[in-house]
Amino acid sequence: MCEIRVELTVPALLCGFDAFFSCVGQIDAKNLEVTSSQYADGALAVNLWDTVELWNHEQAAGYRKKQEVPYDPSSSNDCLREATARLNRYGYCFITGVPAAPEPTEALLEQFGPIRNTHYGGFYDFTPDLAKADTAYTNIALPLHTDTTYFTEPAGLQSFHMLSHEGPRDADGDLGGSSILVDGFAAASKLYHEHREAFDCLSKVPIPWHASGNQGVTITPAMRAPVIEFLQSGYGDDLLRIRWNNDDRGVVPMEKSDEWYAAARIWDSILKDKKMQYHFQLEPGTVLIFDNWRVLHGRTAFQGVRRMSGAYINRDDYFSTKINSQLTRDEVQSWSLFQDRNNLVESSKRIISRT
Ligand SMILES: [Fe+2]
Repeated sequence: MCEIRVELTVPALLCGFDAFFSCVGQIDAKNLEVTSSQYADGALAVNLWDTVELWNHEQAAGYRKKQEVPYDPSSSNDCLREATARLNRYGYCFITGVPAAPEPTEALLEQFGPIRNTHYGGFYDFTPDLAKADTAYTNIALPLHTDTTYFTEPAGLQSFHMLSHEGPRDADGDLGGSSILVDGFAAASKLYHEHREAFDCLSKVPIPWHASGNQGVTITPAMRAPVIEFLQSGYGDDLLRIRWNNDDRGVVPMEKSDEWYAAARIWDSILKDKKMQYHFQLEPGTVLIFDNWRVLHGRTAFQGVRRMSGAYINRDDYFSTKINSQLTRDEVQSWSLFQDRNNLVESSKRIISRT
């Protein structure tokens, strides 16, 4: 058997190369090497995304201005590139200068990927009228959570644009309704380093999740899932996702309940630690977009009526937007073919240090 070296360019791979016909019976697979010069020189791993940076209250407050990206009504790639870079590094960003109306908000969010249609609809625009049986449709305080824990694949991005807030103010002139974000990866890292048993429990014990509040709607994921999820791809054990909403949680398996509740109490105390929480006020004209797989959100109670708009976007669609806003077309094609551990920058930066 002769040794054959085949060098395929990315366009060739995409243009109908029949990998299962012409070579059958003629080539010893052990001696077949496919190379891509774009891939081999490692260029794709350079300057794509910065390191994921964990944050707490103090750091987030200091980042505020850095997190703002000016709205560009021309839909240029600059806005997407800047926004996705921040989303990758910190898990959230603010788009400023957006007209406080539903149409431009929806158009902006659609740039990040197709809006996900759920039992709440697609793009949402609502007031606290309990139109849906969900605490989001009230004006009570909401504890920190991630959204759609009951989906097999929870929403990738979540977003809020408060279009208006009217109502009686308190003695300090305050309407309430502060938004709260917590870096779930930072919280998981803290749990890992300070409470290893609790971390092991919350990352290994799968539990049921559900959405059953609305008549005729009962959504459950295809599998039970732990609070802290890791990639199961064989690439390693990178942190993948936080899935946490106590209001949508099912019953913890009896044989694990003592251990799980003890761990959950510690996890909850980390999320409630003011040093972990970034508090800020949503305002008309500024759209908050965040990674629902990483960042938990909540709010304080508020007075009066808020009109809130936003949308969910799937992780895969957002990821497509991210790489296409950061890379050239050739780079994207080469990257998507290999997705090698060393090139999968996003994944590799999601590692919790285990030292
Ligand atoms: Fe929520």
